[in-house]
Amino acid sequence: MTQSITIRKPDDWHLHVRDGAMLKAALPFTAHNFGRAIIMPNLLPPVLNVKDAIAYRERIMAALPEGSNFKPLMTCYLTDDTDPNEVEIGFKDKVFTAVKLYPANATTNSTYGVTDIRKAWKVFERMEKIGMTLLIHGEEVDPEVDIFDREAVFIERRLTPLLKAFPKLKVVLEHVSSRIGVDFVREMSPQLGGTITPYHLLLNRTDWLGWGLKPYMYCMPVIKTEDDRKALVEAATSGDGKFWLGTDSAPHAVAKKLAVTGAAGLFNAPVAIESYAKTFAKEGKLDKLEMFASLNGPKHYGLEPNEDTITLGTEEWTAPEEMKVDGPEEKALIYRGGEKIEWKVVARKLAHVHTATCGCK
Ligand code: NCD
Ligand code: ZN
Repeated sequence: MTQSITIRKPDDWHLHVRDGAMLKAALPFTAHNFGRAIIMPNLLPPVLNVKDAIAYRERIMAALPEGSNFKPLMTCYLTDDTDPNEVEIGFKDKVFTAVKLYPANATTNSTYGVTDIRKAWKVFERMEKIGMTLLIHGEEVDPEVDIFDREAVFIERRLTPLLKAFPKLKVVLEHVSSRIGVDFVREMSPQLGGTITPYHLLLNRTDWLGWGLKPYMYCMPVIKTEDDRKALVEAATSGDGKFWLGTDSAPHAVAKKLAVTGAAGLFNAPVAIESYAKTFAKEGKLDKLEMFASLNGPKHYGLEPNEDTITLGTEEWTAPEEMKVDGPEEKALIYRGGEKIEWKVVARKLAHVHTATCGCK
């Protein structure tokens, strides 16, 4: 039996679109199916201030397919030296939507990250005052901590004291990856929300490591157990306003993914909304997909949901294995590449089509 569902156009609240040729190649996949995206600032060098963010936003706009009404929402990369005034100016001028905290060396391009969150206390104070959201890559980098416990230990050692110290600071635990993470978001809501990726919903660590090492399933935070996956599925499909969509789509050149020390990050934008639909359909919760994908996120940021819509239908297609990239990077592997994808975006509808006389542009 074929199934279909029409939802408001989703937003992606956690996206790496990179820069240069990779940006040009990757961005259209997101722009087709998402109205807005929170653009991660972990470029090399990172997006550290208002000037960097304006310039990066312009490069993104220039890379958009013709006629696209996609809107990038920029973030500021937090370092030990971030100036609270710069953050406030960027927020008030509507350049920055949020600040992103990477613990130094926790993931791809995080060497400039925060070495001790106490060093950013003044920035948090200011953000709390102006109502700005803090996005957190929540993993402990203490080498004594097992990689599968990084999220849990970060919650205990860093996030719990941070939320206590700044009870009015709005915080998002990015790419929640464990049952402990899910439970903590629930406990600390509404101060804390969580984004969930399509791959943490579909995969467990046996998929990643059990049948030959799959480098394209390697990401931070790493894929965890089946029990963790189940908790994430339950959270995402519950319709609970504490959880919303963030793909963490993160393309890397094939050579970097397949190197002896492989890069963390999966490029899932080409199959993202389709993969979420698969999870929701499997649970019999398709009616909750719009909340997770299109309503809960805007609500957190005080934004209106998108007016445009997309329709997803059960129509099988095969995901391409790779994306061509101009220049020396050449290509990026696509998550679920070569697999049969059960769901397809079969229609996209604009709420409003601009004309010469509509007067709204
Ligand atoms: C991301 C990247 O490649 O930029 N990688 C990842 O494994 N998720 C960074 C991040 O979000 O951790
Ligand atoms: Zn990310």
